[in-house]
Amino acid sequence: MKITVIIGSPHGMRGNTGRLLEEVMVGLGATTELELLDLSMLNLQPCLGCDACHKSGICHLPDDYEMIKARLLASDGFILASPNYIFSVTAQLKALFDRSSSLIHCLALEGKYGAVAVTSGGADHDELLRYMVRYINSTGAQSVGTVSSFVTGRRSFPKQAELFEKARELGSELCRCIREQDHFPDQAGYRGSFKARMKRLVESRKEDWSFEFQYWQNRN
Ligand SMILES: Cc1cc2nc3c(=O)[nH]c(=O)nc-3n(C[C@H](O)[C@H](O)[C@H](O)COP(=O)(O)O)c2cc1C
Repeated sequence: MKITVIIGSPHGMRGNTGRLLEEVMVGLGATTELELLDLSMLNLQPCLGCDACHKSGICHLPDDYEMIKARLLASDGFILASPNYIFSVTAQLKALFDRSSSLIHCLALEGKYGAVAVTSGGADHDELLRYMVRYINSTGAQSVGTVSSFVTGRRSFPKQAELFEKARELGSELCRCIREQDHFPDQAGYRGSFKARMKRLVESRKEDWSFEFQYWQNRN
């Protein structure tokens, strides 16, 4: 079982989000083949909106995006972790979201499972968690759950033992869902209608977006 872990904090694993993510990763267990991608250590530029990925399936910006995409495509599941930066994910993670526009048009991560970890300075996380889960669903994947907390100090959290247990449970739940190919009926409505919308969108642009049109022709 392969899991890709992506952290969008500029502090990488040394920060608060990294501390919470460590516990989620403990929950994955020793048998999981795990790849950690720390966006603060990678070169990931903002999307230029050039349309090349829709046309050719490849982004031509000379950075690490295609490597990250390949890792995601080769995984059974993935974890997204971010601190709350002004009601949203960090710019580092947003760059990845924007750059994955073609993955989203193709719902290319269908069949995979995602989980989310978030920390903040004090705000509630509902809006941010909804956004990150929506991203997961929009790639075609199913979300197995989220863990989030505000901080009480550097790498410390209120009710920490309870929180860390929840984080470890999220990690093991991600593995269980992959093993048992679990299904989340509450996400089926959104994923189904989004899939139909993306298929229609790509068909309407078939002259321009030849890669994506061909992709949809070759799948059910
Ligand atoms: C630029 C910036 C924006 C932030 N915006 C928010 C915010 O809108 N709401 C909030 O509760 N905390 C906010 N915070 C606090 C971080 O979410 C919080 O400290 C988080 O745990 C940092 O995680 P890290 O150590 O992994 O980077 C912000 C911090 C920074 C540096």
